[in-house]
Amino acid sequence: MKTNINPEFIECTASASASTANLGPGYDVFGLGLDALEDIVTVKVDKRPKPSKKNLEINIKGNRNENIPKNPDHNTAGIVARKIISDYDLYSYNFLLEIEKNIPVGYGMGSSAASAVATAISFNCLFGLEMDETRLLDYSAEGELASAGVKHYDNIAGSLFGNFVIVKTYPRLEFIKIKSPNNLIAVVCVPLINVPKMKTEVSRGVIPKNVPLEKAVHNIANACSIVAGFYSRDIQMICNGINDCIIEPARKKMIPGYDKIKNRSMEEGAMAFTISGAGPSSIAFLNSTKKGLHLAEVMREEYKKLDIDCETYLTKPSNGSKIISTK
Ligand code: HSE
Repeated sequence: MKTNINPEFIECTASASASTANLGPGYDVFGLGLDALEDIVTVKVDKRPKPSKKNLEINIKGNRNENIPKNPDHNTAGIVARKIISDYDLYSYNFLLEIEKNIPVGYGMGSSAASAVATAISFNCLFGLEMDETRLLDYSAEGELASAGVKHYDNIAGSLFGNFVIVKTYPRLEFIKIKSPNNLIAVVCVPLINVPKMKTEVSRGVIPKNVPLEKAVHNIANACSIVAGFYSRDIQMICNGINDCIIEPARKKMIPGYDKIKNRSMEEGAMAFTISGAGPSSIAFLNSTKKGLHLAEVMREEYKKLDIDCETYLTKPSNGSKIISTK
């Protein structure tokens, strides 16, 4: 690994999209980038008079800037930046991270992943670090420690690469990218309920530690259907697999009205419905924008009955993170 290097630019801006993880049975394995929203990160660099460990500051702007820690040790992008600065010995520079936060924070749309990914690709570009895709995936996932307490790669993979990604972590980190069918549509419904700090860690805590073999078999079969569906661009086959008997039953208790909204969505045209990542957002899949718009209305109506505000996003798979500009 190169260390003590010079920046090729003084500033780099990158974007990374929202994402959904798991798709039901693919817990910690499946990620899908979603093009409805993106976070944008600008990394600015200048030379310090003396090398120092206190060389990172964060500014947050955008629609979702509430309650985001500016302390780099608690901020997903900050953690990624610190790790890269340390590994590549970049202490002779000052860094300012400007994060434009547009993805709702803590609602299961891969908000922390997007800021982390945009930060990692910006550093890679600024210093010409020549990280390969696996290394970028691994650095970006450092940020998940801030919200989940563990490195999970599914949202990161969806946000970094776009489309559908399978991530394997044992015996080593590997990923498989598959292009999504063109007419795959998702509707994400975000109930604006209070979410705990470290929400992902909390919602990982409710999942059973041991699983009966028949449930594992059920989920593996469904996960295979999802993968086969993406390979053959068959939306019905994908949706037939979005059915999970392990994670959803445990987590849905944390989401008010989940069963009602799921049943109603399935009656009104959803081809599949599950929790988006660690929730509390849910996600429905289908193959038509018109039906998707109708479904978004149905979801809003159901939450209104519960007196809960919600946001809905009609989205398609995203194309992956990108560098927007350099100076
Ligand atoms: N796989 C992770 C989880 C995704 O379900 O906890 C979090 O967005």
